[in-house]
Amino acid sequence: MIRAAITAVAGNLPENVLTNTDLAKFVDTSDEWITSRTGIKERRIENDLSRATSDVAVPAVLELCRKRGISPEEIDLLICGTVTPDMMFPSTSNLICAKIGAKNAWGFDLAAACSGFIFGLSTGSQFIETGKYKKVVVVGIDLMSRILDFTDRTTCVIFGDGGGAVLLEPTEEEEGIMDFILHADGNGATNLNLRGGGSRFPSNHDTVDKKMHFVYQEGQAVFKHAIYAMADVSAEIMKKNNLKAEDINWLVPHQANKRIVDGTSNKMGIGSEKVMMNIERYGNTTAGTIPLLLWDYEKQLKKGDNLIISAFGGGFTWGSVYVKWAYDGSKFGK
Ligand SMILES: CC(C)(COP(=O)(O)OP(=O)(O)OC[C@H]1O[C@@H](n2cnc3c(N)ncnc32)[C@H](O)[C@@H]1OP(=O)(O)O)[C@@H](O)C(=O)NCCC(=O)NCCS
Repeated sequence: MIRAAITAVAGNLPENVLTNTDLAKFVDTSDEWITSRTGIKERRIENDLSRATSDVAVPAVLELCRKRGISPEEIDLLICGTVTPDMMFPSTSNLICAKIGAKNAWGFDLAAACSGFIFGLSTGSQFIETGKYKKVVVVGIDLMSRILDFTDRTTCVIFGDGGGAVLLEPTEEEEGIMDFILHADGNGATNLNLRGGGSRFPSNHDTVDKKMHFVYQEGQAVFKHAIYAMADVSAEIMKKNNLKAEDINWLVPHQANKRIVDGTSNKMGIGSEKVMMNIERYGNTTAGTIPLLLWDYEKQLKKGDNLIISAFGGGFTWGSVYVKWAYDGSKFGK
């Protein structure tokens, strides 16, 4: 059986750091509130408005190619999980491919918010498993600062900009993407959305005046769904694959709120030393958090490690992917 193995990982973050203390200078909040409620201390913001999501993605995809020693022309398919595309169309995937010279690739954007990367990873793995493709790039990236209302303290403090990418290649070994369980429930649209600019609310003065081009989130409602959904689906994929807590080397959880991550790891019986975390430095980068975690922790990853990657986000969308790591990260990690 052919499986899809992750053979390289890379990330990219804007240089500009916005700390909680910086935020408290222009919105009614405090470092104490943000840290205790979310675990976030600072986030990155792409404040160069000439740079869009594809520009931030390009260095990550080029780093992937460099690490694996391949040319962008070898990429067959590039899937980009994002809810902050450069524009409505063409897709950010197409723009990234054009910028890096991936002229033999096709691709598309995948709008599953914080689950965008795991939905893309699962989708991309199918093109490898069928034998159709040899090199699939999955990007997860968002410039959330471009869709935040920086006068709304309930949303602007939790998000940040950045993301990363992985390369999927075929393997005949017992490793790679072993299983996934994915879910979606469009009824969650009432609790978490960005309504303006689509066919339901085309952009006009009214949509701008009503701030419909910004993220709208009912934090508590989303929190309740997220904490149950992420914990349940993570436990479900472990059970389905006969994995006990001691078999898991790493939980790779979407970074929306440290309290949601703690709830998930507790339910799985996994100690904090096995939980990848970077929310304190980057906030919630939506589709970007999981590839950024893999990039940050790559050095510690060993061939054969069992990873449970779990996410929850707008849609609602949620799921878990079981990955058996396919290479020794100590040679490649930063
Ligand atoms: C957004 C979130 C951090 C808010 O935390 P919370 O504990 O639920 O906070 P609440 O919304 O209940 O607000 C509690 C109080 O803090 C206040 N508050 C909200 N944001 C604040 C801020 N940035 N600074 C200070 N006070 C704030 C509220 O006004 C409220 O005050 P009140 O009690 O006087 O009315 C949390 O709900 C959350 O993480 N939600 C899920 C996010 C998520 O998973 N999203 C999915 C992926 S995008």
